[in-house]
Amino acid sequence: MIIGIGCDHAAFDMKKQVVSYLEAQGHEVRDYGCFSAQRCDYPLYGEAVARAVQKGEVARGVLICGTGVGISLAANKVKGIRAAVCSEPVTARLARQHNNAQIIAFGARIVGLETAQAIVDAFLGAEFEGGRHQARLDIISDIEETR
Ligand code: RB5
Repeated sequence: MIIGIGCDHAAFDMKKQVVSYLEAQGHEVRDYGCFSAQRCDYPLYGEAVARAVQKGEVARGVLICGTGVGISLAANKVKGIRAAVCSEPVTARLARQHNNAQIIAFGARIVGLETAQAIVDAFLGAEFEGGRHQARLDIISDIEETR
């Protein structure tokens, strides 16, 4: 699978480890920054990965900042994007199955590497179940149209 990844300075080290983990599993990873541990602004990288998903350049996105909150908020401003912030794998799985999230976000200051790996495994291994869940996502899309 082609996966876009982005982070801010708070998650620069964890991002490198997550990239290695994903590549070891055979995924192609495209890195949208940041590219150093120097302080930077997380919305830039949340938007970059979200736009890559929106354009179909990547199938899924992984976003990491200090908490996962700020970078997911930015991604969710991009039309059609559903970025779910979570700190454990059950929510990550359900974010795919029920919410058809294309992007998972988590915090390098909140979860350790093992949990981060379990989150991406759960997220990438699950598929959207459709049905009643699609009707709810349609309501979210309607909200987006009236913004
Ligand atoms: C950066 O200090 C921090 O605010 C950021 O990584 C993130 O946690 C924001 O939501």
